[in-house]
Amino acid sequence: MRIAVPTETTPGERRVALVPKSIANLTQAGATVVVQSGAGANASITDDDYTAAGAEIAPDAASLLASADVTLRVRRPSTAEIGMLKEGSILIGMLDPAGDPAILHPLLDRKISAFRMEALPRISRAQDMDVLSSQANLGGYYAAILGAHKLPRLLPLMMTAAGTVTPARVLVIGAGVAGLQAIATAHRLGAMVEAFDVRPAVKEQVESLGAKFVDVGLSATDTETSGGYAKELSEEQHQREQEVLAARAREADIIITSAFVPHKPAPRLITKETVAAMKPGSVIVDLAAPSGGNCELTEMGKEVVKHDVLIIGAENLSTQIPAQASQLYSHNLMRFLLQVIKEGAITLDFDDVVIGDTCMTHAGEARAQDITALLAGAPS
Ligand code: NAI
Repeated sequence: MRIAVPTETTPGERRVALVPKSIANLTQAGATVVVQSGAGANASITDDDYTAAGAEIAPDAASLLASADVTLRVRRPSTAEIGMLKEGSILIGMLDPAGDPAILHPLLDRKISAFRMEALPRISRAQDMDVLSSQANLGGYYAAILGAHKLPRLLPLMMTAAGTVTPARVLVIGAGVAGLQAIATAHRLGAMVEAFDVRPAVKEQVESLGAKFVDVGLSATDTETSGGYAKELSEEQHQREQEVLAARAREADIIITSAFVPHKPAPRLITKETVAAMKPGSVIVDLAAPSGGNCELTEMGKEVVKHDVLIIGAENLSTQIPAQASQLYSHNLMRFLLQVIKEGAITLDFDDVVIGDTCMTHAGEARAQDITALLAGAPS
């Protein structure tokens, strides 16, 4: 069984799907790992590092993919790249088909078994395969560092002979995996941190990281699904949250937003009026930019200054830390692969939710309702 690791081709993507450290587990399971020459270069991994770990090197994507039983990607391949895959082979990555439904017909035509890792169930057994968590964690860290770097002032309290410098104030909105790491990082940098999330369970976690929990006065019962995700707020709750956050925003030097509701546009929590009332020179890092932004003035993938406030429409921040992001992602994929490799061959048990929930196409058929719906509107 040959596992291929091609170079990522999405513009700006610096991660690689598999790092040398994960290779031994796969070769012990009976696989041969083949890496495209230069695939790890942006993550500071050389071809020699891969060969030392037991991989083979292929000169280009076409020769690599044509003979691969499994292809590992970080991001979705193009339709042209899907055309290079061996018929009936396996493709694993953060495929996000809604971002380009045109990939679906080629996947079905070539009978590719495609697994989207972002659909992995958030269950205890699958924690070590959870790419959303591993990458959001790094994104949250980087958001705090980016905010600190762009802010034209210090973060910590400093008492010097020339006077005392007060600490900066950081407001984190949305305390999921990314938000909690942003809180921890900003706190370690010496800022005074406060945070808000609609899920009541988060208050204790926020406080355990040394931050203050902002009380918006929402009823705890109707803000969380049984699966632990946030629900969309009612109009009245939403307005109440906007008002409380507007007051907190006026005091903040940095706002980091990471509020998401699954399968919905990101909630608009920072209005343009709130931005206009913020201190000049303050910074907003909007991690929800890819879902439309938590701030009304966010522009996806851009840094814009509005009302003297720098607003960063952050996209995919974990790729800015490519070596560690690749290391964690690679571990996630290796653990996932070890679920499907049995005695040196691939066995797909679709009754296992880890396999069944992530698989979007198999043997020429769509395997999820949203994929069938996407196919209806996808160019064939
Ligand atoms: P996410 O990326 O879907 O959302 C980020 C945060 O935004 C969430 O904490 C959510 O409550 C918050 N949010 C939504 N609407 C908001 C609003 N209007 N105002 C303020 N905050 C708002 O969440 P993430 O980080 O992916 O985690 C979601 C859940 O999954 C959590 O309960 C987490 O504990 C759980 N989880 C479970 C894992 C496991 O057991 N394997 C692994 C990782 C997460």
